[in-house]
Amino acid sequence: MRATQNAVIISPAKKLTGTLPAPPDKSCSHRALILCALAGGGEIYNLSNCLAVRKTIACLRQLGIGVKESGRNITVSAGEFSEPALPLDCGGSATTMRLLMGALAGLPVNATLTGDAGLLERPMEHIVKALRKMGADIKTHDGNPPIAIRGRKLHATVCTLEKPSAQLKSAIILAALRAEGETRLAEPVKSRDHTERMLEFFSYPIKRRGSSITITGGQRLHSKPLHIPGDISSASFFAAAAAIIPGSSLVLKNIGLNPGRTGFMRALKKTGADVRICPSSTEQFEPIGDITVRHSPLKAIRVDKDEIPGMIDEIPLLAVVAAQAQGMTVINGLGELRGKESDRIASICAMLSALGVRCEAAANSIKIHGPSKFRACKISSYGDHRIVMAASIAALAAEGPCEICDPELAEVSYPDFYRDLNNLTNAQKP
Ligand code: S3P
Repeated sequence: MRATQNAVIISPAKKLTGTLPAPPDKSCSHRALILCALAGGGEIYNLSNCLAVRKTIACLRQLGIGVKESGRNITVSAGEFSEPALPLDCGGSATTMRLLMGALAGLPVNATLTGDAGLLERPMEHIVKALRKMGADIKTHDGNPPIAIRGRKLHATVCTLEKPSAQLKSAIILAALRAEGETRLAEPVKSRDHTERMLEFFSYPIKRRGSSITITGGQRLHSKPLHIPGDISSASFFAAAAAIIPGSSLVLKNIGLNPGRTGFMRALKKTGADVRICPSSTEQFEPIGDITVRHSPLKAIRVDKDEIPGMIDEIPLLAVVAAQAQGMTVINGLGELRGKESDRIASICAMLSALGVRCEAAANSIKIHGPSKFRACKISSYGDHRIVMAASIAALAAEGPCEICDPELAEVSYPDFYRDLNNLTNAQKP
């Protein structure tokens, strides 16, 4: 691997072997910070230091919440939320913005949430609509940020989520904590339930039955020290690398195994990759375990709409794996990908085309023809950290060196991505 200006050159790897202690989970880190702040303080161990989570820390500080850092261990100090002097800058982090919208809607503060040029184009209307039903006073710019919130007393709601989104669900749950009465929500398809699990861990009255969730407003959160598990979405990059590069064998350690996040591993197994999940504990709020992935011949699969929430962030990676599998892979139900950091249906197809893979995109689906030898090429980032990292994994299986643009974008979710890539491939140069 070699860095040039705004790009990194990645050479083909012979095989990947070794052990990867995955970085801390981003989704859990955002929620841990916000719930500790709402609980009036708390301790968090192994918090993610990715750019997106740093934005949540910065916003909380602007809201008067003390966040003390000692490496990856954090103390959120007791204190009330206060009115920020300046707009809250969420950078490129939609999770920061959407979760804070829910948390702030029922607090006695006024705040404006803004972000970088990419975030200003991302859809927020689904969250705004749901929160307004609870009495929230929120203004948008034609459905997009900046978002102006005038915190006020909320009332409970009964709703079915208009789409299977953990961010939408969590925004409603966070608002429901401050709302008067009992909020009931139903999910069309179950998504990651980190927020619900953390609330249960904090002894908050939340009832769950099948796909329905009931939250009683106005109760106390009893914070307990939280240990953040390894990020399965980050670990998935190297799981994919091990699956597509002959001779590879990797152990991914201490990974969060939330059932709403393991979809990619299930899909990888279906392609024929040797994936072994070994749960070790559930003592905290999430199940944790190790995942071993070994290369074996891969075949095409079909992925349906209801499977997407469980692997929503791993679709670029699944596309890379599919391009190495025998036959035509069809991935359906991808409408939500149009509103991610890039239009991911378009950016996945552009990435695959650059690599010389035949793929066809429709409004909500992608067809990928494999197996295809990846050619040496230059791949644009489309401003999207997950495209940058998926392209870097593809490069390891290419015929020659590939140039990946904007590698610094990996910092959004996985700051040590290139260090880990180096470590896992270095001993095994072709
Ligand atoms: C997230 C939920 C997902 C995911 C995002 C993080 C979360 O978004 O894509 O990276 O932490 O709740 P949606 O809720 O829009 O599916």
